[in-house]
Amino acid sequence: MLTLIVLVSVALYLLYQAVLHPLAKYPGPRLAAVTNFWKAYHVAVGDYEHAILALHQKYGSFVRIGPNHVDISSADAVKDVFLTGGKSWVKSPFYNCFTAIRPNIFGTTDEVIHSARKRALTPGFSMQSVAQMQPHIDACLTKLIARLDRAADARETVNLKDWVAFFVIDVLGELAFARSFRMLEQGDAGALPPLKEHLMLAMLSGQLPWLVPYVNKYLGYLPIPYLQHVIRGRGKLRQMAIDCVNARLGNPDPTRRDLLAKLIEEYQRGVKSGGSEDGVLDIADVQTEAFGFIIAGSHTTATTITFLFWHLLHNPAVFEKLEQEVLSQVPASPAEATLPDDQGADAAAAACAPYSATTHLRYLSATVTETHRISPVFTMPLMRVVPAGGARIGPSHFPSGVDVSICNFALHHDPHVFGDDLESFVPERWMGDDAGAKQKLLMPFGAGHRACIGRNLATMEIHKVVVSLVRRYRMELVAEEGGVSEGGMPQTHSFAIADLVGPLRVRLTRR
Ligand code: HEM
Repeated sequence: MLTLIVLVSVALYLLYQAVLHPLAKYPGPRLAAVTNFWKAYHVAVGDYEHAILALHQKYGSFVRIGPNHVDISSADAVKDVFLTGGKSWVKSPFYNCFTAIRPNIFGTTDEVIHSARKRALTPGFSMQSVAQMQPHIDACLTKLIARLDRAADARETVNLKDWVAFFVIDVLGELAFARSFRMLEQGDAGALPPLKEHLMLAMLSGQLPWLVPYVNKYLGYLPIPYLQHVIRGRGKLRQMAIDCVNARLGNPDPTRRDLLAKLIEEYQRGVKSGGSEDGVLDIADVQTEAFGFIIAGSHTTATTITFLFWHLLHNPAVFEKLEQEVLSQVPASPAEATLPDDQGADAAAAACAPYSATTHLRYLSATVTETHRISPVFTMPLMRVVPAGGARIGPSHFPSGVDVSICNFALHHDPHVFGDDLESFVPERWMGDDAGAKQKLLMPFGAGHRACIGRNLATMEIHKVVVSLVRRYRMELVAEEGGVSEGGMPQTHSFAIADLVGPLRVRLTRR
């Protein structure tokens, strides 16, 4: 009898999901209509964004990728949900999976907490504030250049992917916590923060949101070595954020404004915008934002720079054009031009391009935009809940409570939105008269009120690194070790954020 009841219940559930559910009219894999395991599988194998792109290529703009989830690739979705949708489109409970201490500005689904956090954090990320932090970026860039100089002089090859990652995390340490992680000194990829473990755990458990509290609480007790490794990775990352905040509070430097300064002031004043029971901002709130910065601000920027060089190295004509622009418009500083090569750190310091010297470079800017288009690094679908009363997205009406998302990787490769030849790396597409309107539809940093607050900082880092390295070295790809996909694109493996498979090995020659 029990078996019969179970079988009938399952049959009714399947019938409802596949035929009667309000999303049943949208095409997609049959499995995805009845369970989130379709998503979990693609998350686990690291090809989630590629699987979503393939579905859009097969079925069009709307695809059902979960029982309650439709992914959309269209200009209407960018406008209706992200650009004009406003605060009524809250983040989906999926984002709870990123919580390791408390929900932070990135993950919170509570718009009141989000607004308060944004007020406290945005000033640190303004262009003016980031520009004031440039000397700290230069200190890290100097170390990077000095290390690359040594490799160039010794004719050693370098894995640019690793060195860029060391640079970016050291910059974050300086700007967010007024300390160096000393990754550029150590040069050891094994010492990078274990982001992948946290992201994998988050992305997998996020497909079944009801599981998240149990994952955080009990998963560590299961005697499975790989799981233990992943849980330890998240624990290490959490501890790293806690240590950074404690060290920053224990050693205040009144002469230095950093990304957390205003939030820390609010914490010290006991402002009521916290996630604690009495609502007062407490140390766990500061730690949780620090945790978020390490996740959102390091691998994203580093991988974007890696992809940019990957595309340059695989498109020599583009590389040459960029070199010409940089060499003709950003000449070496007098100090760099006159210092002999054996002056080591001084010569490297003089080789750092000031951000102001890079902002008018049109081809550089187009190259960066094209990298964001073709290889956006923040690949997980950005999920929002349809607000009360339902909403229209383009021609379709969605009932309230349904999850909708845009996967920027799929969107950026959609010919209906961005035109033809999207598998080729063509910066020129961002230099024509229609470029401005099209650029508004790009989503590498998200869009609307939950868009990335670190964009200014990331852009400054990208411009400075690219111009400084292009101006100083000729670059040559040494060996392809698994980094190219069949379609001639970078081969990636993603848990929320994409990663280049294998190293990006180059030989540098001083100009
Ligand atoms: C190239 C580099 C970067 C890319 C591609 C990127 C991408 C993104 C994207 C797509 C979002 C929106 C996510 C969503 O809607 O769910 C986001 C949000 C966010 N990012 Fe970035 N990011 C980058 C660099 C940074 C940096 C350097 C920081 C800080 C150190 C940062 C901090 C944040 C924060 C705090 C949010 C949440 C903003 C909010 O909800 O109000 N990001 N980022």
